Amino acid sequence: MNLLVTGGAGFIGANFVHYWRAHHPENAITVLDALTYAGNRANLAGANGVHFVEGDIRDTALVESLLAEKTIDTIVHFAAESHVDRSIHGPAAFIDTNILGTMSLLTAARAQWLAGDGKPHRFHHVSTDEVYGSLGPTDPAFSETTPYAPNSPYSASKAASDHLVRAWHHTYGLQVTTSNCSNNYGPYQFPEKLIPLFLINALHGRSLPIYGDGMQIRDWLHVEDHCRGIEAVLHRGRVGETYNIGGGAELPNIAVIDTLCAAVDAAFAADPALATRFPDAPAAQGQPTETLKTWVKDRPGHDRRYAIDETRARTELGYVPARSFDQGFAATLRWYLDNEAWWRGVLDGSYRDWVETNYSGR
Ligand code: NAD
Ligand code: DAU
Repeated sequence: MNLLVTGGAGFIGANFVHYWRAHHPENAITVLDALTYAGNRANLAGANGVHFVEGDIRDTALVESLLAEKTIDTIVHFAAESHVDRSIHGPAAFIDTNILGTMSLLTAARAQWLAGDGKPHRFHHVSTDEVYGSLGPTDPAFSETTPYAPNSPYSASKAASDHLVRAWHHTYGLQVTTSNCSNNYGPYQFPEKLIPLFLINALHGRSLPIYGDGMQIRDWLHVEDHCRGIEAVLHRGRVGETYNIGGGAELPNIAVIDTLCAAVDAAFAADPALATRFPDAPAAQGQPTETLKTWVKDRPGHDRRYAIDETRARTELGYVPARSFDQGFAATLRWYLDNEAWWRGVLDGSYRDWVETNYSGR
């Protein structure tokens, strides 16, 4: 395979590049990323031999030239605006990137891959379980045939992009697959999403803002399991098919937050040096982290429950998540404690200078 990874400097894309480098070192990888606020070159540090191109997926000519010059046969499409709260405040960027950007990629792929000798290729589209809408407490989990019912500008834009990918397959014969996954967590996640935001707030003694009653349910998927799931789709998935990828860890937010608070307390109890590094954390003063919990106004249109029926991925691809939430969360807490420089760089904005700092003078 010769891969083009869009959005490869973001959270999941970067984890995917590291995963693919480690497991398929024989494959060439080109990353195309516009380095929006969520894109961080430092996320790719150590991924040797990866060709990085700073550019926009909406630049169809650029994508076409990359596909030709690098003889790309596989696109793994992560690039997107990905944060629901941002989509509520500013939906336009979500329409531009998620819908028009996906159409631009499809247009370039069609021009390069279908106009020539029609050799095998793959356009893999990374999407979300949010396209299926919100479940009641006893509703069956989302399967690949659940009707689409997106509720936020973010999920509506992802739903539209899914439909475009499907249409380019049915109309033009583009060899596509789509995966719809649940809430990812793990290394390099931008601290606007629940787990990294709350971890970093806990270390600084800042409040943990719980939307509404905190009883919204998500299925938590460690990002490395997600990468394994995409690998399974690329290797064994049927062209034209969609696959739901879950973590097998349906939890109300409050349970995730309580796990997080207890784990931070335990980490401070086990390692007295943490109190010196993070003196403002309640745990540094012998107080429970849960004292930071604060109930705030709910997110508008907040989906109540997501759950993944992963039967198709399990039976067709042999995919099952390898990590329990407790294992995945413990590893994630450890990563954030061990990689303070990474998240401090994100918080103070200096991650923007990473290329200058690391490559100037070379
Ligand atoms: P992210 O916000 O961390 O990263 C997005 C990346 O895309 C960034 O590197 C950004 O610079 C890049 N990008 C944005 N606009 C671009 C453009 N116009 N051209 C080129 N690059 C651009 O997102 P993430 O959490 O890593 O999500 C990756 C994909 O997975 C998205 O498509 C998202 O919808 C999907 N997804 C995410 C989750 C999750 O829990 N994070 C769950 C399901 C699906
Ligand atoms: O389900 C997959 C989706 O998961 C992805 O498609 C999105 O890209 C990804 O951002 C994520 O969306 P969520 O809205 O579920 O994730 P977020 O981390 O923003 O919020 C998780 C839950 O926690 C949600 O119910 C809202 C709640 N929350 C979030 C934040 C940031 C809070 O209660 N307080 C907060 O401050």
